[in-house]
Amino acid sequence: MKAFVYSGPAKMSLEDRPVPVISEPTDAIVKISKTTICGTDLHILKGDVSTCQPGRILGHEGVGVIESVGAAVTAFKAGDRVLISCISACGKCEYCRRQMYSHCTTGGWILGNKIDGTQAEFVRIPYADTSLYPIPEGADEEALVMLSDILPTGFECGVLNGKVQPGSTVAIVGCGPIGLAALLTAQFYSPARIIAIDLDNNRLEVARRFGATDSINSADGKAVEALMAMTDKRGVDTAIEAVGIPATFELCQKIVAPGGIIANIGVHGVKVDLHLENLWDRNITITTRLVDTVSTPMLLSTVQSRKIDPKLLITHRFKLERILDAYNTFKHAADTRALKVIIEA
Ligand SMILES: NC(=O)c1ccc[n+]([C@@H]2O[C@H](COP(=O)([O-])OP(=O)(O)OC[C@H]3O[C@@H](n4cnc5c(N)ncnc54)[C@H](O)[C@@H]3O)[C@@H](O)[C@H]2O)c1
Ligand SMILES: [Zn+2]
Ligand SMILES: [Zn+2]
Repeated sequence: MKAFVYSGPAKMSLEDRPVPVISEPTDAIVKISKTTICGTDLHILKGDVSTCQPGRILGHEGVGVIESVGAAVTAFKAGDRVLISCISACGKCEYCRRQMYSHCTTGGWILGNKIDGTQAEFVRIPYADTSLYPIPEGADEEALVMLSDILPTGFECGVLNGKVQPGSTVAIVGCGPIGLAALLTAQFYSPARIIAIDLDNNRLEVARRFGATDSINSADGKAVEALMAMTDKRGVDTAIEAVGIPATFELCQKIVAPGGIIANIGVHGVKVDLHLENLWDRNITITTRLVDTVSTPMLLSTVQSRKIDPKLLITHRFKLERILDAYNTFKHAADTRALKVIIEA
């Protein structure tokens, strides 16, 4: 089968690989219909993710059809259409029992990281019963690819952890696919204002189209002043960090209102300062989280009932044979205006 393989920093290729086989009774083999590329795949290609070793097939998102299941799989059978979660969950360990699937002692984020992933014609899914979701009849598969990772991530790490409330004020710092997923799902709670912050005017325009009430281009270094002017010098109740660099976490510390929450989503590769000298008396909360994908069934219902339309995030489509073009398009988002690219296997 064709598979997209990471061969070391900045080295990647589409290769011929054997079709995976069941190795544990809890496994399923899924024939991929559609997958996509995540910002995290770009981190891997830069060599930032040490757990992902050369030779690995990348990808942790996608939808497909079950090809075969192991003897212990009871919830799925060959022929079922399924949504693949980016997080594999055994369902039995201490963390799984607490619904912290991301910290599953034998699962978590392993797909396209510690084991071969979804950017291929077939993938082996461990713990199939608790890591796959049935695709409802008539559902739009393309839209559901957004449910493998980015929608649960924006919702769980940004909106739920950030306790977005009716009438509250929210800032979303970074309007990439993850920030936009937080923007779409924040609206479940009817906040009064959602202020989108980014350096890229195209992404800010998309954010306003997706429901942001205000936007700030922070390139001039005056985002704090602009936001304070918009909020009667109060700041925001929820500051969602969706970039993963020191500058944006520091910005969140400056714009959070007394009693507010900084909900960090970004993956941080370097040290970031915490300014307790300014924050110690402000009654704030800081949260961090690796997506657990516990909200997937709920998000599926909201997509089915058209409360949100994740298809808005899809900008480009490629065949698996052209996955290198897909990576180039996704990597140069400022020029190509790419958000999520669909890859059809
Ligand atoms: N916590 C989790 O479980 C989890 C899961 C998936 C992704 N992530 C992380 O979420 C983050 C966002 O992911 P993404 O795919 O949307 O990334 P992305 O790179 O596509 O988007 C980041 C956005 O931030 C903007 N930006 C960059 N520097 C900025 C600055 N100084 N000020 C304001 N905006 C700035 C960019 O223009 C871009 O629009 C990444 O760090 C990713 O690794 C976390
Ligand atoms: Zn991802
Ligand atoms: Zn577990």
